Amino acid sequence: TRPLKVALLGCGVVGTQVARLMTTHADDLAARIGAPVELAGVAVRRLGKDREGVPPELVTTDAAGLVARGDIDVVLELIGGIEPARTLINSAFEHGASVVTANKALLAQEGPALHAAAEKHAADLYFEASVAGAIPLLRPLRESLAGDKVNRVLGIVNGTTNFILDRMESTGAGYGEALQEASALGYAEADPTADVEGFDAAAKAAILAGIAFHSRVGLDDVHREGITEITAADVAGARQMGCTVKLLAICERAEDGRSVTARVHPAMIPLSHPLAGVREAYNAVFVEAEAAGRLMFYGPGAGGVPTASAVLGDLVAACRNKRGGGLGPGESAYARLPVSPMGEV
Ligand code: NDP
Ligand code: HSE
Repeated sequence: TRPLKVALLGCGVVGTQVARLMTTHADDLAARIGAPVELAGVAVRRLGKDREGVPPELVTTDAAGLVARGDIDVVLELIGGIEPARTLINSAFEHGASVVTANKALLAQEGPALHAAAEKHAADLYFEASVAGAIPLLRPLRESLAGDKVNRVLGIVNGTTNFILDRMESTGAGYGEALQEASALGYAEADPTADVEGFDAAAKAAILAGIAFHSRVGLDDVHREGITEITAADVAGARQMGCTVKLLAICERAEDGRSVTARVHPAMIPLSHPLAGVREAYNAVFVEAEAAGRLMFYGPGAGGVPTASAVLGDLVAACRNKRGGGLGPGESAYARLPVSPMGEV
């Protein structure tokens, strides 16, 4: 059976673990897909770093050339940011590859255009790892709940800020010290401003709202406040009142059912609430649906190894479709509920 060829773009916190698991889980992946999966090339910014077992002859700084080879079945985009990720993903579609990405910043800004490009080229665009790390959340929202009506999605979707707030509360660590630790553990974005100012959570809220409400929600539609103004005194004060401070993302269908809103801001959570027990870089998301009722999704929300799990799940789906000639659910069937101006939230 012909091996499926995979190009890995980015071999940092997440990409390194994806490459490692592709090797250690090779037999299982082949069995689940029905064909072996071959790592055909790994694109990075700089040569010479230790990539934890990635054969050096596979590593290149020519990401564009790797994607344009013409024999790549699936491109894993794990660089992050807008460019060159956007150009590389579009090139992947043009050269016949499907794409798996963890890039919430790009999806929140360019989602509709990327979905349109995927559809035009009859390719898959999967992005489970872009929201809530290892937690299976987008696929249940898009597929398992497709026949239900989701009214609210609410929870903690940024591991770095949860880690910082948790450390400030439980160990009395300073904000800067806790942020440094989150970066060292691989939780924070390359520019952690995205985490602490709430941009990362807002991008995830946009993605969640889009899928949950069959709408198109972009980053600019999400009201955003981060945690940079939260002081140790705020955290201690909340504790005295029997509460803890969490950064929440809240996406809701309006009461008239005709529009949606999304917002991200810190909130005081009573210690008795399940979200109060979400520690370190874990995430937890409640989904409220008309028929299903209230569901809770919980697990590691950041970090290389957990996130690699979600990437590999998408890789298996994309490879199965490549072999079977099928396609995953695209975006074109969406009903497109309008997004309310944020002033109305
Ligand atoms: P890193 O910064 O650790 O890794 C980025 C990788 O991309 C590095 O290998 C870097 O090369 C490479 N790179 C950067 N610019 C280029 C370029 N122009 N051409 C080719 N390669 C390039 O990021 P992460 O692994 O943490 O994140 C990757 C993606 O996953 C991001 O979209 C992030 O938002 C997302 N994500 C991250 C999670 C996490 O917990 N870290 C969780 C969920 C999603 P070099 O090594 O040479 O610097
Ligand atoms: N920086 C992100 C976070 C990574 O801390 O949640 C996971 O998306």
